[in-house]
Amino acid sequence: SVDISTFMRQTGLSTLDNGFVNTAATKSAITYIDGDQGILRYRGYPIEQVAEQSTFLETAWLLIYGELPTPDELASFDTRIRRHTLLHEDLRRFFDALPATAHPMSVLSSAVGALSTFYEDTMDVHDPEQVELQTIRLLAKLPVIAAYAHKKSLGQAFLYPDNSLSFVDNFLKLNFGTMAEPYVVNPVVSKALERLLILHEDHEQNASTSTVRLVGSTEANMYSSISAGISALYGPLHGGANEAVLKMLAEIRDSGQGVARFVERVKNKEDGVKLMGFGHRVYKNYDPRARLVKESADEVLAALGVKDELLDIAMELEQVALSDDYFISRRLYPNVDFYTGILYKAMGFPPRMFTVLFAIGRLPGWIAHWREMNADATTKIGRPQQLYIGSAARDWPAGR
Ligand code: ACO
Repeated sequence: SVDISTFMRQTGLSTLDNGFVNTAATKSAITYIDGDQGILRYRGYPIEQVAEQSTFLETAWLLIYGELPTPDELASFDTRIRRHTLLHEDLRRFFDALPATAHPMSVLSSAVGALSTFYEDTMDVHDPEQVELQTIRLLAKLPVIAAYAHKKSLGQAFLYPDNSLSFVDNFLKLNFGTMAEPYVVNPVVSKALERLLILHEDHEQNASTSTVRLVGSTEANMYSSISAGISALYGPLHGGANEAVLKMLAEIRDSGQGVARFVERVKNKEDGVKLMGFGHRVYKNYDPRARLVKESADEVLAALGVKDELLDIAMELEQVALSDDYFISRRLYPNVDFYTGILYKAMGFPPRMFTVLFAIGRLPGWIAHWREMNADATTKIGRPQQLYIGSAARDWPAGR
């Protein structure tokens, strides 16, 4: 008798599934998506209710541990995270070696990878206490690393975390505070950012989460696995789309070509131009997160007194696209990235930080998946097959 994989290989029954469109790589109990209906649930709770009623850390707990925390559990989770926000001083100096022009996503993945070098002694993936420590450290330190990547690009001094502040407020202060004067958090910005981070917390087997799982399946530690996930998120077809949307909107405004002409270029696939922030592998309906972000955009811009003509262009683009047969027949709707950039910009973040914000939001999901996979005794190293299309066997040229 032979096992099933040997049988499949010997009989040539492997399937080729370009882009893994039809292949489930795992079972998971974390997030449910129905892309046709536009439904997203975290551990069974509808995203609309989570975004309205929860906080970033409470949602993180839910995703990672499976149930809502008790008040005591949440308080101790929050305290542990606050106590781990400081970076090793040598890691602070690590940023000195990088160019100020570096994209903050590259800085982020490098610095998270570098965390491995500081915690060599506590990286046993089979020891629950060490897994817990990796979880807490990542949640505590990623926002600090992200803020330092931002400060580095501005040439400003890094601030130390202020552990009297909440997760989101601390992050805002690290980004926008200076040594020169006290920083007061704007509650409108804080609430909006918390909501955006919650909306990004998990999205089942997307490219970056699948990367984290694949790397983690080799029993690589959480820092290395998540550093790889950050690199996967960087690309414009994934998390990088939020930065690309803003570039696209600015280009439409500055070139004076108008929305209708731009949409024509997209439909004709001129120079491979795409409507960034539109379309999704799973959603063939309005992305429920995009709906929530759009609601926030109007509210937050009004509360901050910001008038942004890019929002007007985005709304016009959406209207034109949603009534055009090209987009209707392909079931292309705005995804979560379509409106987020406008909000991040209103909060004062430069476009190069947008994908970094996505990464902070997605971190609990990456951790939850890494842990779910490692807790499952049936997990095997991820190792896809290929269909070989190269040369048949041939002899090396004599005398070469
Ligand atoms: N603009 C124009 N046409 C599009 C777009 C778009 N944004 N997205 C898909 N299409 C077209 C494709 O050209 C293709 O048309 P065709 O049948 O004439 O060849 C058809 O719609 C199907 O598209 P695929 O590329 O097969 O869809 P896939 O599921 O592989 O790609 C993806 C999904 C990558 C998200 C794609 O829609 C895209 O590139 N969107 C723009 C980038 C973006 O916003 N990414 C963020 C995704 S959400 C996230 O990661 C958080």
